[in-house]
Amino acid sequence: MSPPPLRELAAPRGLWIGACVASTPLATESAYAETLRREFNVVTPENDMKWGPIHPARDRYDFSRADAIVSFAAASGMAVHGHTLVWHNQNPAWLTSSAWPREEAIAILREHIAAVAGHYAGTIAAWDVVNEAIANDGSLRQTPWLDWIGPDYVAIAFRAAAEAAPRAKLLYNDYGAEAANAKSDGIYRLISDLLHAGVPVHGIGFQCHLTIDGVDLESFARNLQRFAGLGLELYVTEMDVRLPLPATANSLARQAEIYRGVLETCLAQPAFRGFQTWGFTDKYSWIPHRFPGQGAALPLDEHYRPKPAYDALRECLLASPAAR
Ligand code: XIL
Repeated sequence: MSPPPLRELAAPRGLWIGACVASTPLATESAYAETLRREFNVVTPENDMKWGPIHPARDRYDFSRADAIVSFAAASGMAVHGHTLVWHNQNPAWLTSSAWPREEAIAILREHIAAVAGHYAGTIAAWDVVNEAIANDGSLRQTPWLDWIGPDYVAIAFRAAAEAAPRAKLLYNDYGAEAANAKSDGIYRLISDLLHAGVPVHGIGFQCHLTIDGVDLESFARNLQRFAGLGLELYVTEMDVRLPLPATANSLARQAEIYRGVLETCLAQPAFRGFQTWGFTDKYSWIPHRFPGQGAALPLDEHYRPKPAYDALRECLLASPAAR
């Protein structure tokens, strides 16, 4: 008998387990769709809800690819995690090719969020409202939105999202902030200030794009704890663990321990709600494009076969009490 898929282990524990999904293999490769549907209870569109693809001209939205993912998820009993309403990357040229006066930039941002979060109101359960707004030193990252609007663009975005999608969980999402460090200190200050000002922020996403060096789990645990102390839900949103290619039995075993350590550390937190990887098969991972010479970062290999990392995730869920 084959072991139960991940989603069957996650559901009784009240957890989301998921992956990002790309619309092309979803439409063209049956093993891709079948594996997603079998293993996961939530998906995040990898690119199709970013500004560039979904808002190609100022007066035009293109929901077609994102809608296809949402329909697939609905038909498969999966939730959808939206990504993302404000980011400095993958923006359309019409937006970034000129500087906007503050009031006009605010109007553009509000319109976009009303249109996109509004289109999916009631169907998207959680949104990465603001992605990667903090720099490594803990200050606000220099982005077009910061230039045009100033620091309050973050609050404006969360308020607009709450209006357009009143039932969605609204998250702040970032990378390199897993451990307690200058960057996670900056995120902590940002979210504390937002909450004190009454801005609706419900959770934090730790991307967890890791290397074979992993993450200091003791520091990660302390960091999770302080964000939970703000009353936030905790999510791992984009985990992958990139390896120098070719991967070896040793590097795959080490990778499995990193996946295990992260999930185990999260499961110890009552506010932990969801664990997602950035893709699920090594066949379609952003890593080899972004980090040449590295890859094999996900729990399934390029033939959709489970790797040691997959077994580690399964064992970890099995070991966690069913009523968390
Ligand atoms: C990546 C996608 O995986 C790639 O296909 C795309 O070319 C670039 O963006 N952090 C994020 C994601 O929040 O949106 C990024 O996704 C990976 C890093």
